[in-house]
Amino acid sequence: MTQPREVGVGPWEGPWPEDPRLDPDLLREGDRRNVEDRYRYWRHEAIVAELDTRRHEVHVAIENWEHDLNIGSVVRTANAFNVAAFHVVGRRRWNRRGAMVTDRYQHELHHPDATALATWAATGAPDGGPVTVLGIDNVPGSVPLETYDLPRHCVLVLGQEGPGLTPQTQAVCADVLHITQYGSTRSINAGAAGAIALHAWVRRHVEGQRPVRS
Ligand SMILES: C[S@@+](CC[C@H](N)C(=O)[O-])C[C@H]1O[C@@H](n2cnc3c(N)ncnc32)[C@H](O)[C@@H]1O
Repeated sequence: MTQPREVGVGPWEGPWPEDPRLDPDLLREGDRRNVEDRYRYWRHEAIVAELDTRRHEVHVAIENWEHDLNIGSVVRTANAFNVAAFHVVGRRRWNRRGAMVTDRYQHELHHPDATALATWAATGAPDGGPVTVLGIDNVPGSVPLETYDLPRHCVLVLGQEGPGLTPQTQAVCADVLHITQYGSTRSINAGAAGAIALHAWVRRHVEGQRPVRS
C-alpha cells in the first residue's frame, strides 16, 4: 500500500542557520504547517511581516449570522490572494475549521453590522480615502462581475449559504455583482464565489496579470 505523502519538511539537517527569521523549534522538530515551501522553518511573525510588505489593496468581507462553514473557505482564499484584510460582519465568533489556520497570517477586522462596515469603508484606504463596498451575490438588481471595472480599493462582501447577502448589507453596497451562471443551480458556494471575485480583481489590478489589450 502506498503511504500518504508527508506535508512539509523534517528537522533541519546541516550547519545550524543564523537567519533570524527562522524558528529554532521548527528547525529542531520539522515544519509541517500549511505554508508555501519558501516559508519553511520561518517564524510565524516573520511570515506575516513579509506578507505585510506586499498585501493587495482589495479586502474581503463575509457576513456571519449563522456560523456558516463556508466562511473558513473564504478566509483561506483571502490568504491565497494576500488581501489587505478579511472582515467578518455580524457575530464575532466564526467557524474557523475550513480556514486551515490561514487566518493567522492575515489581518482580521470585525464589524457588528453592515452600517459599521460602511463606516469603516468611508476612510479604510491606507491614505484615509474610501474603500468601495461591493456586494457579491446574484440578487435582483445585481450586475455582471465579468464586465464590471473593479476599483483598486474595494471590499468584496459575500453572503451566507441560504439567506445570501442581507438587505442591510445590499443597502450599503455601491453595487452588487453577480457571477453569471449557466446551469440550473440557484448559486455556487460562497467560497467559490469569493475565489472568482478575487481572481477578477487580480486580473484587473496586479501587474503581469492584466489581459493584453490590442
Ligand atoms: C448560497 S449563496 C445564497 C444566495 C443566492 N442569492 C440565492 O438566490 O440563493 C451564498 C453566497 O454565495 C455567493 N454567491 C453564490 N452564487 C453566486 C453568484 N452566482 N454570483 C455572486 N455571488 C454568488 C454570494 O455571496 C451569496 O451570498
